[in-house]
Amino acid sequence: MTDRYAVIGNPVAHTLSPRIHAAFARQTSEDIEYGMILAPIGEFASTAERFRAEGGRGLNVTVPFKLDAFAFANRLTERAQSAGAVNTLKFENGKALGDNTDGAGLVADITRLGIGIVGKRILLMGAGGAARGVVLPLLDQKPALVAIANRTVPKAVALAEQWARRGPIRGGSYLDFSDASFDVIINATSASLHGDVPPLSDRTFATAALAYDMVYGKRPTPFLAAARAHGVPHVADGLGMLIEQAAESFYLWRGVRPQTASIIAMLR
Ligand code: ATR
Repeated sequence: MTDRYAVIGNPVAHTLSPRIHAAFARQTSEDIEYGMILAPIGEFASTAERFRAEGGRGLNVTVPFKLDAFAFANRLTERAQSAGAVNTLKFENGKALGDNTDGAGLVADITRLGIGIVGKRILLMGAGGAARGVVLPLLDQKPALVAIANRTVPKAVALAEQWARRGPIRGGSYLDFSDASFDVIINATSASLHGDVPPLSDRTFATAALAYDMVYGKRPTPFLAAARAHGVPHVADGLGMLIEQAAESFYLWRGVRPQTASIIAMLR
């Protein structure tokens, strides 16, 4: 029997997830159907519950329901706990397992780009939900340093303090890190969505091998355009991360890991 999955959000019409998972299913010959659910605001739990009651096996969760899904899950993976948010639910034996595959998706994409995190100095810009979702998966790769810079400095300091026991991590202002050199600069702020660039010093671009924006779109984000103008050799938007996090969800559900490169190329 065909197993049913879906992405749940509000809005959801723009999501690429059904195309990505259909491509994974074709590639791996897994018998799944993957739909799209527009849940009314405030009705995440009842909508997810109905999907499960009708035989649904799992959900991808997108804006604005990642915290609702966190509360909904009966059990959480460590990476979901550290993110404080759930983007993947797996239903089995009457229970809902909550996971978060965003950080693994980011790490997989940076690795796919041939840069990697191991031994690298990473500048993570932003200390909101998007940044929180990737801190632990980054530290687990054994970087030389994860520096978190944020406009509201105490948020960066608190996030770094929370994970200090797991690896080399520091929080501060953009200015605090303006003289340091980094191999990888990751934009986990929502600045790109407002057409802004975080207040990075030009010097920071000079030594970077990769500038990565977790946001994606048809055109390079203002941050990536700035990185390119400063000669950063590799720039990447978050489309690869989106597909890699989907692959990680697919693996959680099906126990089969799809190949992502051809699907990233197709969606480009
Ligand atoms: P998300 O879940 O996308 O991370 P969020 O929790 O609202 O959303 O966090 C947004 C992040 O982007 C924050 O780190 C925010 O900085 P502040 O904590 O100082 O608000 C950051 N951000 C948003 N717009 C920005 C801008 N124009 N320049 C720099 N940082 C910005």
